Amino acid sequence: MSGLDGKVAVVTGAGRGLGREEVLDLAAHGARIVINDIDLPDAAEAAEQTAAEIRDAGGESLVVLGDCADSQHAEALMRKTLDTYGDINIMVNNAGFLRDKTIFSMTDEEFDSVVRVHLRGHFINMRNVTSYWRSKAKAGEEIYGRLISTSSEAAIYGSAGQPNYAAAKSGIVAMTMGAAQLMIGYGVTCNVLMPRAETDMTSVGPTAEMFKAPAEGFHHFDPANVAPLVSYLSSEKAAHISGEVFIVWGNMVNVLKRPTILPPHVNPAGEEKWSLDGLHESLSSHFNEDYKPVHDGFSMPIPQG
Ligand SMILES: NC(=O)c1ccc[n+]([C@@H]2O[C@H](COP(=O)([O-])OP(=O)(O)OC[C@H]3O[C@@H](n4cnc5c(N)ncnc54)[C@H](O)[C@@H]3O)[C@@H](O)[C@H]2O)c1
Repeated sequence: MSGLDGKVAVVTGAGRGLGREEVLDLAAHGARIVINDIDLPDAAEAAEQTAAEIRDAGGESLVVLGDCADSQHAEALMRKTLDTYGDINIMVNNAGFLRDKTIFSMTDEEFDSVVRVHLRGHFINMRNVTSYWRSKAKAGEEIYGRLISTSSEAAIYGSAGQPNYAAAKSGIVAMTMGAAQLMIGYGVTCNVLMPRAETDMTSVGPTAEMFKAPAEGFHHFDPANVAPLVSYLSSEKAAHISGEVFIVWGNMVNVLKRPTILPPHVNPAGEEKWSLDGLHESLSSHFNEDYKPVHDGFSMPIPQG
C-alpha cells in the first residue's frame, strides 16, 4: 500500500514533461488523476494521450484544459475535479514556460508572461485548493491535503539569463512557505520541488546539451526520475514533512537547509542610527580581504541578447 489509493491528484501542465511523469507515477500508485494543460492543439493532444495511457494501465484520469493562471479556468478545474471525483487531495502546481533574456533586453511582456504563468498560476490554484481544504476542515469533515509547488534552482542564486523566471520561482518558494505555516494546523503539507530534467522546456536553447540522454546507461535527466518524490510527498508516509524545499534529479534528492542569518553587527556607538564610517568599520570584519562579491549564480548558460 502506498497510501495513495483512491486519492485525487490534480497536476497543472501535466500533458508533457515533468507533469506527465508525475501523473503517470501518481496513477501507478493508485491515485485518481486530473490532468490540466493549456487549451492549444499540441498540449490538448498530449494531455489526452497521457490520460489514455493512465486508463489503459487500469487507472482513472480526467483532462481539464485551460490556462492555469486564469481564475475562471482554475475554478473550472476545481469544479470539474469535485464533480467527477468528489474530492481533491493532492495539488501539484507545475505548468509553465520560459522567455529567457538578460535583464538588459527583457521586454515588459517577457517579464509579465513568465511571472504570470508560474507565480500567478501557483497563487490561484494554491488559493483555491487551500481554501477548499480549510472550509472542509471547518465543517468538521476529514481532509487529506498535499500541496506541491514547482520552483527551480534559479530561485536560490538568481539566473542571469532568466530574471523573470528566477523572480517567479523565488516567489513560489516564499508563497509555499506561507501556505505551509497556515496549513500545518489542518494537517495539510506544502512542499517545493526544484527539479532538473530533459523536457521540451530544456531541450532547446542553452540547456539542450546539458540535459541530453547519454548514449547508454542511466539518463540522469529523465523527467521520470523526479516523479517518485512527488508521489512520496503526496503519500501518507510523508504526512510529517512540510515547508521543505527539495532539489531532485537523477538518483539524488537534496533537502535545502534554511538560509542562515549571521550574528548581527551592533552599532558600537550605542542605541542610535549608524554613521557611514561606523557601518564601514563594523561591516569590514565581514567584507574583509577574503571576501569576494557574489557573482556565481545558477550555472545555466546565459542566452545571447
Ligand atoms: N525541466 C527542468 O529542468 C526544470 C528545472 C526547474 C524547474 N522546472 C519546472 O518544472 C515545471 C515543468 O516544466 P517541464 O520541464 O516539464 O516543461 P514542459 O515544457 O515539458 O512542460 C510544461 C507544461 O506546462 C504546460 N503549460 C504551459 N503554460 C500553461 C498554462 N498557462 N496553463 C496550463 N498549462 C500550461 C505546457 O503545455 C506543458 O505541457 C515548470 O514549472 C518548470 O519551470 C523544470
